[in-house]
Amino acid sequence: MALDMTPEQREVGTANYRKAVEHLGLDRRDFLKAGAVGTAAVGLSAAAAYFGYKSLQGNPVRTALIGCGDEGGVLAGEHNPDFLEIVAVSDIRPYNLKRIMTGDFKVALRKGLNKIYGEKAKAIKSYTDWRDILKDKSIEAVIIALPLHLHAPVAIECMKAGKHVLCEKLMARTISQCKDMIRAARENKVVLSIGHQRHYSMLYAHANEVIKSGILGDVKHIRALWHRNFSWPAVFNPDEWAVYFDGDKQKAQQVAGILEPKIRDGWFPPVVQGDVDGLEALAKERGVDLKKFLADCGYDSIEQLVRWRLYEKTGGGLMAELGSHQLDAASIFLNKAKPLSVQGVGTRSFFGPNRNPREIDDHVFVTFEFPGKNYAQDKNDIVVVTYSSISTNGFEAYGECLMGTRGTMIVEAEQNVMLYTEKDPTKKGDQRAMSIDVSSMKKDQPAADSSSTWGGPSAAPGTAKSGTAAAASGPISRGYREEMEDFAYCVRTWDASLGYEKDRDGKFRQRMPRCHGEIAMADAIIALTANLAMRERARIEFKPEWFDADKPDVPEQRA
Ligand SMILES: NC(=O)c1ccc[n+]([C@@H]2O[C@H](COP(=O)([O-])OP(=O)(O)OC[C@H]3O[C@@H](n4cnc5c(N)ncnc54)[C@H](O)[C@@H]3O)[C@@H](O)[C@H]2O)c1
Repeated sequence: MALDMTPEQREVGTANYRKAVEHLGLDRRDFLKAGAVGTAAVGLSAAAAYFGYKSLQGNPVRTALIGCGDEGGVLAGEHNPDFLEIVAVSDIRPYNLKRIMTGDFKVALRKGLNKIYGEKAKAIKSYTDWRDILKDKSIEAVIIALPLHLHAPVAIECMKAGKHVLCEKLMARTISQCKDMIRAARENKVVLSIGHQRHYSMLYAHANEVIKSGILGDVKHIRALWHRNFSWPAVFNPDEWAVYFDGDKQKAQQVAGILEPKIRDGWFPPVVQGDVDGLEALAKERGVDLKKFLADCGYDSIEQLVRWRLYEKTGGGLMAELGSHQLDAASIFLNKAKPLSVQGVGTRSFFGPNRNPREIDDHVFVTFEFPGKNYAQDKNDIVVVTYSSISTNGFEAYGECLMGTRGTMIVEAEQNVMLYTEKDPTKKGDQRAMSIDVSSMKKDQPAADSSSTWGGPSAAPGTAKSGTAAAASGPISRGYREEMEDFAYCVRTWDASLGYEKDRDGKFRQRMPRCHGEIAMADAIIALTANLAMRERARIEFKPEWFDADKPDVPEQRA
């Protein structure tokens, strides 16, 4: 994330962050809160206490998963059956319907439902048409992990059928669709939550508290990036695919990879023969040809179904898939401020006709102006946020870097936070090797407490680790589990008679998911307007009406 940091400097940065966390008593406070509501006793992480949800007392929400691909697999692998009981799954690709049960050979997070439910997994219903789920009145909620263009139509149908919805990010393909989804949630009085997991990450929650404590001074710049190198030649490994052929590597070799990619590129997965055969069989079952079947499901071809991220019709490019996460983080750090303007450059400078072709850009670089804390009084108080996503160099990977008048914070790959102090001009020495002086933090914050222990309240056994504690002891929860637990808690405590009523202060009268429709729509507006700015090579100013679900104004139809 920072170009030239030595291991020692990284260590100093990590230690500085721990010091700030300890000074603010964040871990200790979570631990006490967790103890107070007994989360540890019922197997919940400290995150439950932090985010304010409780056990469902053996009454999990009966849930269907629609879309059993990569992300569906992560959500299935990470869900807590005490909160959500997955009783049905739906997909049109036979491999993925199988994979959701067996788990993944590549990613440990995708454990597979067989492992999670044991014998009970046999009772999980499997549908090739997601509409069948709507007929099952016993299903209370759905998780949607489909390609972007299907989020709104599927979510709206589910909400009309009375199902609560947790839909993956980006909320929708257009802002009009986001507004339709919010309306559908209100009219049908159901919970709508969107899967921007950083809203449920303890790492981000704690980093945000450190920022709010003032230790960085006045933050004037955020640099966010997500870089990967997709330029290597593809190596197709039949061993990896053997899992779909009951371990038969020879068969995998024969049938896999009919449209083998030329470049090793996560967004250009192979189209496997088994899927082609399965989709043809499904079309036959429904009495239509393959083309008509695919069109009914929202695609022009099988390739578009498998590589949906690369097409304008089905995806939203790098900003929707990656940038939305990090602009979400930036707006959390800036107290949910809405941006003022965006401009940028997007290019398709690497991939082309003979190199994993695509309709979307392979490099994006965008610059946002956000209002600073005193913007209302001083129009010069601007925070500049830059975001880049490139596909041909992975040196810096991904993260966010916040630059303030008194310090710099680096949040790296959702796993690690480093903090550096700005150098006092009267002092000598390497700024990146300086231990931070917690006494420079604001006076109204808790004083340093020698009894607070770094890494103290790690999560209860078998649960996700909390943000700061785990930075010291291994991978931490990125927030998926907590996001689903929180959603389930909202569903269980939901009072349909109140629906989306607000009180006099404009606050919802009942508990809403942390990333409810209006919050997620703001993330979609930021990502999709950046796409417009790059396409038009223009500077676009954000309009407050776009962020208002009650107003019809949207960036895609701006005057
Ligand atoms: N929150 C995160 O960190 C994160 C990470 C990755 C992906 N995502 C989001 O999750 C969603 C899914 O992404 P993915 O990587 O799993 O894609 P994927 O292509 O691996 O999975 C999509 C699945 O949907 C199925 N599908 C497509 N059309 C269907 C239809 N009409 N009916 C039933 N099933 C259908 C496909 O067969 C496939 O199995 C996207 O919106 C993506 O942005 C979120």
